[in-house]
Amino acid sequence: MKTNFDFLMPSVNFFGPGVIAKIGERAQMLNMHHPLIVTDKFLQGVANGPVAQTLASLDAAGITYAVYNAVEPNPKVRNIQAAKALYLAEHCDSIITVGGGSAHDTGKGTGIILTNGDDITALAGIETLTAALPPLMAVNTTAGTGSELTRHCVITNEATHLKFVVVSWRNIPLVSFNDPALQLDVPAKLTAATGMDAYVQAIEPYVSLNRNPITDAQCLQAIRLIEKHLRPAVANGHDLVARTGMVEAEMLAGMAFNNADLGYVHAMAHQLGGQYDAPHGVCCALLLPIVEQYNLLACPDRFASLALAMGENTAGLTTREAAELAIRHMRQMAQDVGIPASIKALGAKPVDFPLMAENALKDGNAFSNPRKGTKEELIALFQAAYDAE
Ligand SMILES: [Fe+2]
Repeated sequence: MKTNFDFLMPSVNFFGPGVIAKIGERAQMLNMHHPLIVTDKFLQGVANGPVAQTLASLDAAGITYAVYNAVEPNPKVRNIQAAKALYLAEHCDSIITVGGGSAHDTGKGTGIILTNGDDITALAGIETLTAALPPLMAVNTTAGTGSELTRHCVITNEATHLKFVVVSWRNIPLVSFNDPALQLDVPAKLTAATGMDAYVQAIEPYVSLNRNPITDAQCLQAIRLIEKHLRPAVANGHDLVARTGMVEAEMLAGMAFNNADLGYVHAMAHQLGGQYDAPHGVCCALLLPIVEQYNLLACPDRFASLALAMGENTAGLTTREAAELAIRHMRQMAQDVGIPASIKALGAKPVDFPLMAENALKDGNAFSNPRKGTKEELIALFQAAYDAE
């Protein structure tokens, strides 16, 4: 019997040391016969690394594959076009991404243009996709963007420097694998940047207009875990307890913003990332205290609750004082893990801010921000992030 429903199954999220060994069996369950592996050359070259372990499990299950290994940071339209060409030339029937957010977004973007039309820039926005993507599984190696389990796909148009998001439930990978043992060799700088992304992804949904009690619980637990584990993970990458805590946190944050959405930190960070090809987590970390200070007016009680989850002592403080403490705490966290003070470090130029502010207000993450901004206000926020010392 054929139904009108085009989804295959609800998503499954595997977590814990050793889960990567299940991927061959899962590929069989999904009837994948010849997936396109989407990754980068560095990961592909790591002996017994995430790519090697993925391919070993597929080999054991008798599944053949082709490999696209040219994923770039801030994935570009040219990357998904090249991956699509390889997918078609190799007669692939499915996609497996191996890496961090860039690999997953490249894989999602490839799937989007295979089934929803070749021009992905026309699909920017929320729930714009009308056809199912090819079956997609994601092996995650950073903690992290959460892209391995979210409906968000972020792509940069290299011709216009515009970074945009395609938000659709059709983007959600069918199976994700988060194996902390595969993350021990992630460099400290990348651990800090991706960890700050997860931190922002736990804070923005907590103050989002689309929050609910379930996402609140996910956000608060993600924040507690990041407070406990991010600094140790940056200090010593081989601390498996810290790596495991950060994976739990990034998954919780991903689940939270998948339902409650994000806000201006992400909407503005996408402009910095698109314009200057800067690391996403660093862009988010630099904007976080500036944007949340601006948002404080909308929901001071939410920020006071954040201060408690961050481990601050708020006894005897007014709501406003506790809320201000949360903002100071965010700034300190970024400083502790080595994030620079100002967006000057990314090459930002004030002359670009008017267009970036305009585009940020159109970004798919802008609509859930708790305070409604004007173009002039967002220019001022970019300027404040530029002047920060
Ligand atoms: Fe993010």
